[in-house]
Amino acid sequence: MEPNETLTWEDVVLRRVRPEFADELHELIEDGREHIASWMPWAAEQTYQDTVDFLARSVASWDSGETFNYSIFVDGRLVGGTGMMTRRGPGTLEIGYWLHPDAVGRGIVTRACRAQIAAAFALPGIERVEIVHDAANTRSGAVPARLGFTEVERVPTDTRSKNHTGLDVVWRLNRSGATVS
Ligand SMILES: CC(C)(COP(=O)(O)OP(=O)(O)OC[C@H]1O[C@@H](n2cnc3c(N)ncnc32)[C@H](O)[C@@H]1OP(=O)(O)O)[C@@H](O)C(=O)NCCC(=O)NCCS
Repeated sequence: MEPNETLTWEDVVLRRVRPEFADELHELIEDGREHIASWMPWAAEQTYQDTVDFLARSVASWDSGETFNYSIFVDGRLVGGTGMMTRRGPGTLEIGYWLHPDAVGRGIVTRACRAQIAAAFALPGIERVEIVHDAANTRSGAVPARLGFTEVERVPTDTRSKNHTGLDVVWRLNRSGATVS
């Protein structure tokens, strides 16, 4: 059970992450570090070796069926990262995402999610897709709202940072309610 290694939605192309993306991916993270790290603390101190290690872990976790990480390309340029994770349990895939600041405000992540939702519901046994974000991360929350997800719960977490409130919002799209067009 695994999605295709390349997914497309209009101009957005998702490619399974590969070790050879390391230089381009790290340059993107360095250039957008402040924006990305505002909600993804790993980006604050990410070294080149951390990026290499992330890509190696991504290869292994794709092969074990645990996490399906993609790089996001528009017009052939890398602009961000996304992926589908199984950590929320059987029958569920959770989508995560980030963009370089220059790519924000164009609907790119919304289209990246549409591609992944279609891929997720094409997999046998996947009944729901979820998106989780900190309660104060309103730009992130606007993505599932735009895609017709329903907010299902708010859960306290240990994640604390300058911006994080420590309250996660969980959004869900059920297979039966999914119209990805
Ligand atoms: C979360 C994040 C990816 C959202 O980025 P985004 O650009 O707002 O999301 P999208 O790519 O879906 O674009 C939506 C925006 O493009 C606009 N847009 C333009 N064309 C569009 C289209 N065809 N379809 C949808 N939206 C479109 C929307 O109106 C919206 O802009 P607005 O918020 O000013 O109204 C981005 O803010 C980010 O990288 N944040 C840092 C990392 C992060 O928080 N990750 C999530 C952790 S849970």
